[in-house]
Amino acid sequence: MDANPLVRQVLDQIDGDDPRVNELVSALVRHLHAFVEEVRPTPEEWLAGLSFLVETGKMCTPERNEFILVSDMLGLTSAVDDVNNVGPANMTPSSVEGPFHSPAPVRELGDWVSDGPERERGVPTVVHGRVFDCDGTPLAGATVEVWQASDAGLYDSQDDAQDLGNLRGVFRADGDGRYWFRTIRPSSYPVPTDGTGGVLLRAIGRHPMRPAHLHYRVAAEGHRPLITHVFLAGDPYLGSDAAYAVKEELVRSPRARTEGWGMEVPYEEIEFDVNLVPVGWKEGA
Ligand code: BEZ
Ligand code: FE
Repeated sequence: MDANPLVRQVLDQIDGDDPRVNELVSALVRHLHAFVEEVRPTPEEWLAGLSFLVETGKMCTPERNEFILVSDMLGLTSAVDDVNNVGPANMTPSSVEGPFHSPAPVRELGDWVSDGPERERGVPTVVHGRVFDCDGTPLAGATVEVWQASDAGLYDSQDDAQDLGNLRGVFRADGDGRYWFRTIRPSSYPVPTDGTGGVLLRAIGRHPMRPAHLHYRVAAEGHRPLITHVFLAGDPYLGSDAAYAVKEELVRSPRARTEGWGMEVPYEEIEFDVNLVPVGWKEGA
């Protein structure tokens, strides 16, 4: 029972047809009223908050959703991801998709995903691994989609020097669940700060940087598709990711190599195995 009669009155009026909507709106009302009681905003502060939401809406286009960015910057996207992606202890953790996913070219195992000028400048890198079920069964033919920013921290859609599809690829794992591709080492980069996401970061004294990473979307029949990242050990922003997406199990140390994988120059090797969760997995079942 809520002690505040105003909150009680608002909650008592919630009586829609969908019980889940009623539950969601009731909880939102309770938490927002608790926020008002705690911080006692002035009318001007309340209106400034509403204007922030209006401005966030104005920034949104079919290509850009500023609300998602604000949700990322507050750790909310990661929180929703965490409560939904539960599974066996050895499952590969998920991590936020981010705004830069777009269609990727289908490539052959071992192909370069880097075809732009960054290939001349960047650190050549071989990325490989295997896709398994959580019981260790290799998942033959799993789909491994990757996308990343360049050594300059730019995605294809942000960089006139890159063709669309550069630094992206969809690979089909072999009969042992193995995949591999060649690329250049990604670098850390700032999230877009020209909208209200940037206004928010500046207001709270927070930097906009994301640690260097590759994005993955891995899918196999009978398994929950996994969206995740691989982060590079040693990155200065691992402990303060602007999107709060880093998980220890997703951090890998690139190893310096001079031969192997058909490489003719010194390169770095990153190994990343993935354990997918079977569809319908239930705790204790
Ligand atoms: C990204 O990794 O591309 C990203 C994720 C969350 C917010 C902004 C960018
Ligand atoms: Fe990214």
